[in-house]
Amino acid sequence: MASQIPEAHHVAENTFYVGCVDYNIRSFHGYETQFGTSYNAYAIVNVPHPTIIDSVKYPFAEEYIENIKKAIDLSEIKYAISLHSEPDHSSSFPHLLRAAPHITLYCSRNGKKALEANYPEDFPNWNVVTYKDKDTLDLGDGHVLHFRLVPLLHWPDSSYCFDVKTKTLFSSDAFGQHRAHTARVDDAPGALDWSYISRDTRAYWANILMPFGRQACKALDSLATLPAGPSLVACAHGINTRKYLGEHIELYKRWANHICVRPEVVILYDSMWKATEKVAEAIKEGVMLEGAEATIVNARETHITLIADHVLDAPCLAIGSSHLNGELLPPMGQALTYLKGLQPNWKRVGAAFGSYGWQSHAKKLNDSLVDSGVQSVVDPLVWAYKYTPEVLEKAREMGRELGRHAHSRVAADLEKLKSL
Ligand code: FEO
Repeated sequence: MASQIPEAHHVAENTFYVGCVDYNIRSFHGYETQFGTSYNAYAIVNVPHPTIIDSVKYPFAEEYIENIKKAIDLSEIKYAISLHSEPDHSSSFPHLLRAAPHITLYCSRNGKKALEANYPEDFPNWNVVTYKDKDTLDLGDGHVLHFRLVPLLHWPDSSYCFDVKTKTLFSSDAFGQHRAHTARVDDAPGALDWSYISRDTRAYWANILMPFGRQACKALDSLATLPAGPSLVACAHGINTRKYLGEHIELYKRWANHICVRPEVVILYDSMWKATEKVAEAIKEGVMLEGAEATIVNARETHITLIADHVLDAPCLAIGSSHLNGELLPPMGQALTYLKGLQPNWKRVGAAFGSYGWQSHAKKLNDSLVDSGVQSVVDPLVWAYKYTPEVLEKAREMGRELGRHAHSRVAADLEKLKSL
């Protein structure tokens, strides 16, 4: 049976890719997916208890079922496992379980709640068994799955399972990337190299996993509790990792622990009549005078997905906005709302600046900075209408101050990194 599957979809012994590649998606609930994505699912076959791990987003349900059929007759499947119930990984289970109602579906207790709520018409017909942390499921012939709960990586139900025979960690959203590609594993012929995969991994972490650093640390620790170290991580999106597994884990350790390795100040702004933009440039000059890095990001011209990527591991963030009707300019409001959700506990520091007409918005700016999760370390810089030479000089001094903060954060973090 398995010979009908392309060789590229053979990811480990008796383990086949049965997921689907979504080349055309460009918005994943707001995340700009310019390179598409994939919904990865797997079949462990040629064992006494053949098993399907995860499903795919519902528009691909028929393709998913056809992919499974290339690996195994549906009547022979014993178990299906839902590692994470977000619909991009669960919404084809109704199709699979209607076609093969004898299958026993395994999920975590939180997963069961979400599946029941999401699929109320189908769920009562399913034979569902829940697993706990450290439970095992024996598929036969040495394929024993070890479960680990990794709550909030990315939902409360998120979990891993590890096949002790192939040393494959099925990691769900963790270690994923939004990338549509024909290669299934990073050591396959024609696979993208690390420069692409690391970029995609970074964008994915910034937009999906950045809020969950604490939980990610626990999930990384749980790898040490597996019966063996993984040799392959089979994730739920993008390209699986065998060749670059060590590099992935190093990046995850850095990001999960909020480690900054570059003394960077991101200057995120929007400007009505270019006064605020000119002052952003002066802040940049100050940062550079301290030998730090400055990245200017115009919130009006930049998608929030890329803004999160810019901000990810920058120790300092300066925000700038002109005053409009008592508020910040709308693109800044959108960007800061997005960052507020993404960066709790990040301990980033920063400052705010902007031009006003007839009423100072210093407090509004500073409150917006703090509310987005950034500690304010310099008094806000505001001025009426056009900047003056004195304003530009204060902006350079603000940049210098932030540049010094960036250097000291990096020095402390590099020390901390040695102990991780
Ligand atoms: Fe890819 Fe949290 O689902």
